[in-house]
Amino acid sequence: MSTHGSHISHSTRIGLPPGPRLPSALQAVAWLRRPLSFLERCQRRYGDTFTLRVRNSGTWVILADPEDVKRVFTAEHATLGVGLANSILGPLLGARSVMLLEEPEHVRRRRLMLPHFHGERMDGYAQMMVQVTRRQAGGWPVGEPFVLWPRMQELTLEVIMRVVFGELEDERLGHLRKLLGELTAWMNDPRRLRLLAAAGPRRFATNTGYQKVIRPVEQAVLEQVRLRRELPEAQLRERAEVASMLAEARYEDGAPMTEQDLRDELVTLLTDGPTSGLLTWSFERLLRHPEALARLRAEIDIEGADGPYLDAVVKETMRLCPAAPIVVRRILEPMELGGYAIPAGTTVAPCVHLVHRRPDIYPAPLEFIPERFLERAAGTYTWIPFGGGVRRCLAAPYAQMLMKQVISTVLGELELRAVKPAAERPRKSAITFVPHLQGLVLATPRAKSDSGERAETAVEVDGRAG
Ligand code: HEM
Repeated sequence: MSTHGSHISHSTRIGLPPGPRLPSALQAVAWLRRPLSFLERCQRRYGDTFTLRVRNSGTWVILADPEDVKRVFTAEHATLGVGLANSILGPLLGARSVMLLEEPEHVRRRRLMLPHFHGERMDGYAQMMVQVTRRQAGGWPVGEPFVLWPRMQELTLEVIMRVVFGELEDERLGHLRKLLGELTAWMNDPRRLRLLAAAGPRRFATNTGYQKVIRPVEQAVLEQVRLRRELPEAQLRERAEVASMLAEARYEDGAPMTEQDLRDELVTLLTDGPTSGLLTWSFERLLRHPEALARLRAEIDIEGADGPYLDAVVKETMRLCPAAPIVVRRILEPMELGGYAIPAGTTVAPCVHLVHRRPDIYPAPLEFIPERFLERAAGTYTWIPFGGGVRRCLAAPYAQMLMKQVISTVLGELELRAVKPAAERPRKSAITFVPHLQGLVLATPRAKSDSGERAETAVEVDGRAG
């Protein structure tokens, strides 16, 4: 059998694997309301490979066997396209976003963006991430319950704005912050999901409420690009941030990126949906696992954000708490998956959620056990919160580093505890999943004596009483 599937063996069944017989409209309701339990139920009934028919989104062959996931992620990228245009992300990100571009354009754009979210460039961001976290955490309520998710959204937004636009004057930054905050708040409202379900992505894109929040963001983002394009070339080159790089980028034929390209790319970066949700999850999990929290605190006091246990905590949070339960690919050649010859044109979906809960790979899969990632490295096709292959999240190192800097800074300064002892359940927001109480916590300043020097420095920087 060929790995990439153009050759199909004799024992293979032809056609799509079985799946629920419900009409596609009802499958859409199940998918939009309770996607995780829907996936789990289908796996119990049909096994690791099954077909969902979801009205307004398409037909997906769900893959929960790591061998199949590997086959899809390592397939020649020329045979794969992405089906995300049919989701809520389509209208938001725009067809010219790297996330939705097809090959060969996709890989060219990806090469332009990658250096900003990998390697050396990261070192320069660490200090800024810590400063932003200290400033923001310094303003969180003390001694009364509050929810983490909106704070985490503000925080990740503030950080990505600096990565994208560099140092901006306060007034411009404030304006952008306000517009992006309004867009995020609009997307967070659960009614939008029902609108999407009822209307489909195309009608959603022309919805007046949506237009009202997206247009000002587009204008402000493009204004930033225009300002950069007016700068003398040498000056523009000196600026390291993403917006300047894109403003001066040239395609192979020498043409600059169009304003539509730039709009779509910058909105893609600025919406940074999953990181704030995952940060909220990491606190939600840690606060319900006092031993893990104590071990982490002890490590942070010595190693800051660089310790192996913090890395394991971040990985375990991403394993257990879904950001995207599936990633999708459209196959342009027949492929053999799960014993079926899947025809060209089918959308296949490596299932992050189900792979991450396989007991053969993760014993006691529903438990939060960061130690598992100390004992065994995360597998390329079994730990897939960022997807895989040539479409793997291009900001994966950035997102993990941001999570580590935020967790270590917050824990260095604050004592947090969960207001309700019971675990929070995943609730679907427009783009990702968040704890249903949005991370309801109570904070008190961390006593100087047990947090040592790091906390003292933090208090000095913030001017917040210890
Ligand atoms: C913990 C946080 C994050 C998670 C869990 C996450 C997850 C994902 C996933 C599942 C994909 C699809 C991968 C695939 O189809 O194989 C993706 C793609 C992508 N992500 Fe992320 N992401 C995160 C943070 C970010 C951030 C902070 C940015 C940008 C600032 C970002 C930018 C992108 C882009 C541009 C793509 C498209 C890559 C391509 O198609 O080549 N992500 N991400």
